[in-house]
Amino acid sequence: MIQASEIQAGGTRAKVRCDELGGSPYSDQADGLFRPYLGPAHRATLGRLAGWMDEAGMSVETDAVGTIIGHYAGTTPDAPVLLIGSHVDSVRDGGRYDGILGVTLGIEAVAHFHRHNRRFPFALEVIGFGDEEGSRFSTYMMGSRSAAGLAQTIDDSVTDRDGITLRKALADWGLSTTRFKTARRENVLAYVEAHIEQAPHLERAALPLGLVRGIASQYRYRITLEGQAAHAGTAMHERRDALAAAAESITAIEAIGAAGPDDLVTTVGFLTVENGAPNVVPGHVIMTVDIRAVTPGVRENAARQILEALEAISLKRNITLSVEQVQDLQGALCDEALNAILRKAIIDTMGYTPPVLLSQAGHDAMIMAHLAPMTMLFIRCAGGISHNPAESVENDDVEAAHRTLVSFITRVGEER
Ligand code: GLV
Ligand code: MN
Ligand code: MN
Repeated sequence: MIQASEIQAGGTRAKVRCDELGGSPYSDQADGLFRPYLGPAHRATLGRLAGWMDEAGMSVETDAVGTIIGHYAGTTPDAPVLLIGSHVDSVRDGGRYDGILGVTLGIEAVAHFHRHNRRFPFALEVIGFGDEEGSRFSTYMMGSRSAAGLAQTIDDSVTDRDGITLRKALADWGLSTTRFKTARRENVLAYVEAHIEQAPHLERAALPLGLVRGIASQYRYRITLEGQAAHAGTAMHERRDALAAAAESITAIEAIGAAGPDDLVTTVGFLTVENGAPNVVPGHVIMTVDIRAVTPGVRENAARQILEALEAISLKRNITLSVEQVQDLQGALCDEALNAILRKAIIDTMGYTPPVLLSQAGHDAMIMAHLAPMTMLFIRCAGGISHNPAESVENDDVEAAHRTLVSFITRVGEER
């Protein structure tokens, strides 16, 4: 007989472990959390996770692109695999739960079955991807794209802010750039990801858990605005000010996002002014644009409007515009059959029918959907705040997520 208190302890441990991983040596930032792909903090985190996976009865390996995988065998050696996971990397000055909580919750689910000596006709694997955030290289989801067999080449022009190529960063970890295609997973039954909601809908509904219906498509662009650096004494009508062009562009991009539809969001989240100084008219600016929407065609339409607006602004201001698309991520729908099982697991565990949510945030699940049926469990987070050190989840909510994952896996076992 499984005691509720025992399952509860698992939820608490999953959260406490994220808190431990929120600082040195699991962060490459002195104060707060920054865990970029293939950095020292990422390596330290994989070491800690490997210890926890081992304690939970898993054999542990790291694949060709630095994804950690804990394996808990099924009842037969050739059993298919149920993957439970998320990402271990973070944005700069990020929160302690985005991604990593899905990994520590996966470990706790396996630990639970290990304690009860329970095996299924499928293996359980806890998977922790790097590079979901794209916070070091302009690549993105290298871990899940490799696992899903979608990563084809390594682009040698891809470097981090210090000029280190992705190829070198992989080699520094002893990872072979020629082997990354071997990371493709075979015989995958399903992928399940638990993640904080990163929006306030669950909080507003006063509910701890929700079911995800689908994930928005994303475009990301790197925009270069080239004007002419000049003395701050230059007459206003003589200037080709790249930063003023960026400012006008940013408000145009915001207005296009705000004009909707409701599921459209547009963000300029990064801007650099080359050789910026108080007495120099800015000549060179780089900025990023991120465009997301769930409804097919909305993202494409917004991208067209934004690029037209940028062209018009640049033309008017005599600025040379370069646009590079660095990301094109197709949205994904969760699998209906898996969602039905997860819905039952939530009803079972929590006694309510969960709300069905759309995710504007990207997740490894949208990549894994190319490989296998996938589903996602959302956990309430305070104010919906994420990508911020103030990110926060309640203990009880994580415990609820843990009980639900245990119930979900058990039900998948019963239905096979
Ligand atoms: C990842 O958090 C993303 O949605 O960009
Ligand atoms: Mn994130
Ligand atoms: Mn995330």
